[in-house]
Amino acid sequence: MDVSSYKPKGRIEHKHLLNLLDYSTADIYEILHLASALKNSFYKGKKHELLKGKTLAMIFAKSSTRTRVSFEMGINQLGGKALFLSSNDIQLGRGETIHDTACVLSRYGIDGVMIRTFKQSDVEELAACGDFAVINGLTDDFHPCQALADIFTVYETYGHLNGVKLAYFGDGNNMAHSLMLAGAKTGMNVCICSPKGFQPDPEITAAAQKFGNVTVTDSVEEAASGADALYTDVFFSMGQAKDPEKEKTLMPYQVNSDVLALANKDAVFMHCLPAHRGEEVTEDVIDSTHSIIFQQAENRLHVQKAVMCLLMGKRK
Ligand code: CP
Ligand code: NVA
Repeated sequence: MDVSSYKPKGRIEHKHLLNLLDYSTADIYEILHLASALKNSFYKGKKHELLKGKTLAMIFAKSSTRTRVSFEMGINQLGGKALFLSSNDIQLGRGETIHDTACVLSRYGIDGVMIRTFKQSDVEELAACGDFAVINGLTDDFHPCQALADIFTVYETYGHLNGVKLAYFGDGNNMAHSLMLAGAKTGMNVCICSPKGFQPDPEITAAAQKFGNVTVTDSVEEAASGADALYTDVFFSMGQAKDPEKEKTLMPYQVNSDVLALANKDAVFMHCLPAHRGEEVTEDVIDSTHSIIFQQAENRLHVQKAVMCLLMGKRK
């Protein structure tokens, strides 16, 4: 089955969105269907206040443009409210535990918490201790909201996901991990192309390979050949120090016009953003007609609205 032939039920049996490992293909299709309906309503200017009266707290221990603005606009458009909590301004940043933070927030009628932080275990602890839906807005290991928006964008581009080849180049980081999981679960063919030493976590790779078609290679030719989508991300993720050795090792994995020429003729270029032109991607590729980076960024809004509705809508 592909997304278009799936009949949505309007619900998923999850309290949280932590890493996608526990999400089924049907759960992901539910999100994509609702995202598509919400996107249509948004374009038609139709009111869709499905989360009227609900509150989303947003904890940020790292910087953000897209995640912060798309979650805040998203909850507003759904009739709810957002609370922006920079970890520098709340006691979490001064050593208060995740456990105590979760217990306190649970007393104030918060319906959901979106958290962007370093350790995946902190997100999982927040979910275990709090009485609200937890949404992972990026950790060192995963970025599920971005990967869901990305596969939605691929679906909009090709009209299906089954068999679409997405080749990811560069650091085997949080994006690589989440793309492997989201792609494998939706029948895509995901190829991660990274040099030895920077390949994705073997445990996450093995988990993704159980669900579908995921390969890891250090050959740019192998990855790019027959690709429908070329994807890359920064060499240095938030929290990582710039390292000239790493940059030198990753440079041959830059997405440039030679790599684009190896892919299918109408292949699209994707990036979660922010991008560093001249590092992981050249200007002529990211600013070319192949690039769908701003469609990806926009789809964060629609997909996260769907996630919030499915997780927070059933509470109280
Ligand atoms: N792609 C993404 O998550 O962007 P921000 O870091 O700006 O939120
Ligand atoms: N891998 C990047 C993604 C940013 C959206 C980072 O973690 O900084």
